[in-house]
Amino acid sequence: MTTGEEQRKHAQAGSFGAAADAYERGRPPYPPEAVAWLVPEHATTVVDLGAGTGKLTRALCAPGRAVVAVEPSAGMREQFSQVLPNVPVMEGTGESIPLPDSSVDALVCAQAWHWVDPERAVPEVARVLRRGGRLSLVWNLRDVSVPWVAELDRILRDYAAAPTEDRQVEQVGTLFGLVERQDFHWCHPMTAEGVMAMVASRSYVITLDSASRNELMGRVRDLLDAERPTTMPYTTECYRAELGQL
Ligand SMILES: C[S@@+](CC[C@H](N)C(=O)[O-])C[C@H]1O[C@@H](n2cnc3c(N)ncnc32)[C@H](O)[C@@H]1O
Repeated sequence: MTTGEEQRKHAQAGSFGAAADAYERGRPPYPPEAVAWLVPEHATTVVDLGAGTGKLTRALCAPGRAVVAVEPSAGMREQFSQVLPNVPVMEGTGESIPLPDSSVDALVCAQAWHWVDPERAVPEVARVLRRGGRLSLVWNLRDVSVPWVAELDRILRDYAAAPTEDRQVEQVGTLFGLVERQDFHWCHPMTAEGVMAMVASRSYVITLDSASRNELMGRVRDLLDAERPTTMPYTTECYRAELGQL
């Protein structure tokens, strides 16, 4: 990665707090069958890393389970605490997790692993997991095989430099061994306003200059007026690996 690309990635990684409200309104949850695949049923201590506003965290909470969120952005943590006032949310990153060694059964990172530096984050996650503990990674990806969703993506690409497509999953194998993958296809009920909020919450839209952002939002509005969508199709891409299975 060039220095310019690194600087842009850093700015985008730190941008989410500025649109935490749009994030909460516009981003999808995670389907229960994906969450069941990601997190072992017996896990009693679970960390949501890069928890944002708690979109995944709410699905992790279960009787007899302690859930802790770790999130670097103050704006996201504030929104998180409004939505999930009973779940602790700590300041931290994948490279520096504020938890003791061998204290966690499972750590899930939703829509955020592409922001970490895997050389530092993989050993840090291994440090906080108990032996046999699980690291799970998940992304909700819009299904661009649907024509209006493909058009939405084209508009986004016209204006915004999307962050690297590299989800950095293969680096996990350096300490965790076999990485399993499973995809889940589903549709999220969504109004046009919800799609607008989803677009406004993208890191690469937040960091655009305001003239370009307004123009982009206008084109998205025109598309939505023409298409009148009621759902957003997603593929939820899931990965899991266990510590000590080398
Ligand atoms: C796209 S949001 C995902 C939020 C939430 N997990 C979800 O699924 O909706 C990405 C999150 O990663 C956080 N983030 C950025 N850099 C990070 C890092 N190095 N370690 C952990 N989280 C990071 C951002 O602050 C943001 O809240």
